[in-house]
Amino acid sequence: MIVTIDGPAGAGKSTIARQLADTLGFHFLDTGAMYRAVTLGAIRKQIDFADTALLISHAQRATIEWQDTRLLLDRDDVTQEIRSPIVTDSIKHIADIPEIRESLSDQQRRIAECQNIVTEGRDQGTDVFPHAECKLFLTASPAERAKRRHQQLADLGRPIPLEQILEAQNRRDAEDRGRPRGTLRPADDAVIIHSDGLTFETVVEMMLDTVRKKMQSLQPEASEH
Ligand code: C5P
Repeated sequence: MIVTIDGPAGAGKSTIARQLADTLGFHFLDTGAMYRAVTLGAIRKQIDFADTALLISHAQRATIEWQDTRLLLDRDDVTQEIRSPIVTDSIKHIADIPEIRESLSDQQRRIAECQNIVTEGRDQGTDVFPHAECKLFLTASPAERAKRRHQQLADLGRPIPLEQILEAQNRRDAEDRGRPRGTLRPADDAVIIHSDGLTFETVVEMMLDTVRKKMQSLQPEASEH
């Protein structure tokens, strides 16, 4: 069974999707991490972001693998580095290129083959897995998402003004929604969860409930004998 979770930056998708996958005993795929790894690789190789052909061949050659929760790019552990601001700010140069999206989408489909999986990103329920059995779209208002991020960073000892976070978030939203391929949007058949005012646990419960109902509806009718 494939469960897709899409939604904007800062909606808490990764943590919630991971928890959902753990509870269901499903595999978990963080597709944002794949875009981040390809971006980091391009930065490390100092590829000019205007050189689309070179970016495409770099993306097609890069090997992205997981060892438990660690992400390896060409065998090098990049789990931390893919979260750095320079990577976040540069991703659009990678994520806007249709051939790179195609290549990463193919990898995502191969990873999902023959296994139960929760896969999280922007385009999972729309472009990558249009036939997924269960599609969720997790969102929250821009103010709520920025507030949560602000708190998270403060807890990590890295306080950043709220307005600055909101501005960067608005920019990413516009990039993710404005992209012609892999556009951030809910699939027509997605269940939309608006998480303003809801706790992490409540959102996970709502998702679990949706997935379990879907599983039941997919079970063959019990025999009468
Ligand atoms: O989810 P995360 O914030 O790590 O994703 C980073 C960026 O990667 C997103 O802002 C988006 O530009 C890109 N992305 C994408 N398609 C996905 C997942 C992420 O374009 N399926």
